Amino acid sequence: MTVHDVLTVGHPILRQPARDVAPEAIGEPEVQRLIGDLVDTMRHAQGAGLAAPQIGVPLRVAVIEVRDNPRYPYKPNIPLTVLVNPTIEPIGDETVDINEGCLSVPDLRGTVARHVTVRVRYRDQHAAVQDEVKRGLTAGTFQHECDHLDGRLFLDRVTDPTTFTTWAQFERFHRDAFVARISAFVARVGS
Ligand code: NI
Repeated sequence: MTVHDVLTVGHPILRQPARDVAPEAIGEPEVQRLIGDLVDTMRHAQGAGLAAPQIGVPLRVAVIEVRDNPRYPYKPNIPLTVLVNPTIEPIGDETVDINEGCLSVPDLRGTVARHVTVRVRYRDQHAAVQDEVKRGLTAGTFQHECDHLDGRLFLDRVTDPTTFTTWAQFERFHRDAFVARISAFVARVGS
């Protein structure tokens, strides 16, 4: 498989709603190659997830995996998950403020309100239908990746622009307070 360059904010593909993949096409070599390339590129870039538009492919495919991620050490682990044609639906009204980053938005982080609990329906890499409930920071990661498939970046959801920071300034001035707050949240709601 191939590690791709990740497109950065300003590239038009990142702003286009991606197209569904026909379920019968998921097993075809092109789609399987796309899934493999997304996994390899996500792991190479140490992302928590990656969506096909980020490597220039306007299809509704994304991958998520958190395994002791050094970019986001407070995130609970998530096994490798391949999402084809995902839909996401909030459960309840509770939201949490999460400081997010994105491989397509180099050296910037910002605070986004995400639903605490979501129902995610998708097809996996074998075209099997999955229907799951995600909570906490994991739910936030799923919302971030599904946003990419609708041409949306976390930047669009930052309501307080004073929360924008570079990664270095986040480490220096904001990390400790965020990690303390979010660790208490993770302990309360689970992953
Ligand atoms: Ni992203």
